[in-house]
Order: sequence, then structure tokens, then C-alpha cells
Amino acid sequence: MSDLKATVAETTNGFHVEGYEKIEYDFTFLDGVFEIQNSQLHRLYAPWGRCLAIMDKNIYDIYGNDMQRYFDHHGIELKIHQTMIGEKAKSLDTFTNIVDSMTDFGIIRKEPVLVVGGGLVTDVAGFACAAYRRNTNYIRIPTTVIGLIDASVSIKVAVNYGNYKNRLGAYHAPMHTLLDFNFLKTLPEAQVRNGFAELIKISSCAHLPTFDLLDEFCEKLIMSKFGRMPGQKEDIKAVADEINRNGIFEMLKLETPNLHEIGLDRVIAYGHTWSPLHELTPAVPLRHGHAISIDMAYSATLANSRGLLSDSEHRRLLNLFSRAGLSMDHETFDEKVLDKATQAILKTRDGLLRAAVPNPLGNCTFLNDVTHEEMAGALRRHKNLMKEYPRNGAGIEAYVDASDTGYSINQVPVENHMNGASSSDSVEVSKRHILPNGVVSGLKGLAANGHTGLPALQEQR
Ligand SMILES: NC(=O)c1ccc[n+]([C@@H]2O[C@H](COP(=O)([O-])OP(=O)(O)OC[C@H]3O[C@@H](n4cnc5c(N)ncnc54)[C@H](O)[C@@H]3O)[C@@H](O)[C@H]2O)c1
Ligand SMILES: [Zn+2]
Repeated sequence: MSDLKATVAETTNGFHVEGYEKIEYDFTFLDGVFEIQNSQLHRLYAPWGRCLAIMDKNIYDIYGNDMQRYFDHHGIELKIHQTMIGEKAKSLDTFTNIVDSMTDFGIIRKEPVLVVGGGLVTDVAGFACAAYRRNTNYIRIPTTVIGLIDASVSIKVAVNYGNYKNRLGAYHAPMHTLLDFNFLKTLPEAQVRNGFAELIKISSCAHLPTFDLLDEFCEKLIMSKFGRMPGQKEDIKAVADEINRNGIFEMLKLETPNLHEIGLDRVIAYGHTWSPLHELTPAVPLRHGHAISIDMAYSATLANSRGLLSDSEHRRLLNLFSRAGLSMDHETFDEKVLDKATQAILKTRDGLLRAAVPNPLGNCTFLNDVTHEEMAGALRRHKNLMKEYPRNGAGIEAYVDASDTGYSINQVPVENHMNGASSSDSVEVSKRHILPNGVVSGLKGLAANGHTGLPALQEQR
């Protein structure tokens, strides 16, 4: 929601307009958003008596019945547009399909669209809302770790276009974001790990107490899906909630003064200096969380070599990536790629490297004066260090699969879901829905210009 205050003054040859826009939006933590006794969602839609939801099909398959029951109970008419958006379908076609549903529904001024799913759905549907009648309200319910702690914390929405990731987009704040971490119980572990990397990022550069918790409970957090797997002890859920709340709060504090990304020294860009180009370099692209972890681990070695990060902090950080099963190195992460990635990032950061590094852990410094020799020396040292770690620093499930690029229907036992409505049936897995060649060629398509040093392959952080 926004509100513009502006003044108009006459100048010699015309007019000068100056305005300030008030932006306000809310986040509410709420486990069990579709549980009948939780009235938050109902209260948001009661004024309209109806709701158009744009929703990830995997989420619909698991939670659709609960959602329908919720809206039926509250007497709110529900219409659902199901999406199957892989990175390859983060496109203008998908965007216009959503727009068509909004027209069919007859969405009226100020009526909010409900958007439910991971970062892909919230990015594309959010952009459709930004463009529809130039500005349509929406309410978000993110369902992945990336969505909950990153994509739905920002107000950026976008689609890919012309081989570039997030090339067309907008800054469009939702009215409200409902943060329900219970969705994580059905999220594949590889996707949980992916989001874990972003939490290491924010905590190691901005909030030491959160880093300490990630360090203490790493394996338990991942295996229990942030305490949301059935039968988890309450304490791991409490730890997870503290981590997530602090991580989101830190990100909001850092990013909201810079909502339109005019400032380029960004703490949350730790791990996003060399990774945008490197992520798409291996034959099968790396998962985002693994690509940024390689960048973060290497940057930490660089910072340690400079005497910024102490030996013990450096090792603590590397150990955490390793324990989380995140990548710290890759055979394609070499001097050549570092050079290309440096050239690319310099263009998007106005000629300065602005490489965020923890210094000390929990705080951040930006490096602008790193020479080619220093980078190469740190890389040699980093690769040597990797020999001491399990898998030589390689990650677990480090590469993208159909769920990241094309779209795959999850095989999730229905009994896992909320309300304990148990059935041992599995959601049908339909290979027909996996886009042909969508797995690798999806991102490779995006990467078509990726090795020319063009900077816009991946959204910059
Ligand atoms: N706007 C931003 O600031 C921002 C920030 C970070 C990432 N992003 C974007 O987010 C996208 C990635 O989003 P993502 O990582 O959330 O992935 P995603 O939306 O593709 O979801 C990953 C997979 O998990 C499935 N899924 C989602 N929630 C589930 C659940 N609770 N249970 C079972 N399965 C579930 C989905 O169907 C999909 O197959 C990228 O396009 C990236 O550019 C945007
Ligand atoms: Zn990221």
C-alpha cells in the first residue's frame, strides 16, 4: 500500500515536481494459516467475500483441501489459478496467463490477489499484480525457505526475459505477508539447504547470535525442516523460529532504507559477487544456495588472508558450510571464472567490486581494492584448504534438477500435511508435467550469454 505526498513548483521554463511515497506493509508469523481457528487470512478477505488465489500446484496438491475447507468455513468464495512455474516458465507467457485469470475473475480496484508458493510464484504473480491496472494489491504466503526468509521479505518481483534472469520486473510491496513455516514440513531437503545458505549469509555479516544458533543446531535444523517435521521436539522449533525472525528482521533493517536498490554497498550481497556468473558455469548449473556458498567460503578465505577474519572465525564458517552439506568449492571455480565474474560485477556495481565479507563474524566490510594476484593467491589457498574437508568441499545435491528449472510434481505423502488428515496415498507423479529438456536446458537457455561477461545473468545482490 502506498500513498504519495507531492508538491509542484513553477520554474522559469516549466514545473518541478517533488514527491515522497509512503510505503507500508506487514508481516505476520502464523503457523497453520489454513487452520480454521486462525482468523488472520479470513479477516483479510472478509471485506471482499471472495478470493482469487495464484498458487503453486505442488502446494495445491498437498494443502488445497485444507485451503478450500478454510474458505468454505468462513463463507468466502475461492477461485484458484494453479501454476507450475519452473525457472524456465518464469516468463511473460506465465505472467499473461495470470493476468487473464485476474480479468476472468474480474478483480476490482484494491481487491488483493492471494499468492501462495515459493519465490518463483511470488515473483511472477507479484509482477502480474504490479502491472495489472498499473497497480493491484496482493497478499503473499511464501512456502519455501528462500520464499520465507528472502524472496517474500523483499518487494522485488520479476520475470525472466531474453535469456536474462529477472530482466523485467518492478518494486511492488504486498499489503501483507503471512509467514507460515509449517509449509516446510513438505519441502524437499535440498530446497531447505538452499535457503539455509541465505541464512548463513545474513547472520555471518549482520547478526552473530543468529550465526551462533545456526552453528549449534545446523544438522537438526535441516533434518527437521526447521522443526516442522512431525514429532520434533519443541526446542528445535523454538530455535528455528528465533533464527528466522532475526534473519528476516536483519534483512528488513538493512534493505528497507534501500528499497529501490540505489545504494550498491549491500551487506546481503555477501556471496553474490562471483556467484552470479559461476552459478551457471558448470555443465549442470549449481543450485543458488550452493553457488553463493562457494562464493561466501572463498570470500571468507580472502578476508582471512587479509587478516580481517580471524583463523578461528574463518574455520567456524567453513565448518558450518560443510556440515550443512553446502558447496565450498567447485572445479569450475577457477581463476578464469573469477576474472570474468569480476568484470561482470564491476559493471553492475558502478565500477567498484563492493565484495561484502564478514569482518569480524556478525559484521561486514566491503572490499574494493582486491588485485588479480590477491584473488588468485586466495583461490590457491582456498583450494588447498578444501582438501581437509569432507567431499573436498563439494556439496550435497548441489545441482539444479527439474524442480528448479522445469517443473516437477512432488511425490509427497498426503499424510505429511497439516490437520493430521492422514492418508497413505501419494500425490500422483506425472512425468508429463516435467518439461522436455527443462531440467538443464532451462537454465542453460538463460545462460546463453553467460560466458561473455555480461552482468545480468543472475539478479545481483
Ligand atoms: N524477489 C526476490 O527478492 C527474490 C529473492 C530470492 C529468490 N528469488 C527468486 O525465487 C526463485 C526461487 O524460489 P524458491 O527457491 O522459493 O523455489 P520455487 O518457488 O521454485 O520452489 C521450489 C520447489 O519446491 C516446491 N515447493 C514449494 N513449496 C513447497 C512446500 N512447502 N512443500 C513441497 N514443495 C514445495 C515447488 O513446487 C518447486 O518445485 C528464483 O526465481 C529467484 O530468482 C527472488
Ligand atoms: Zn541469493
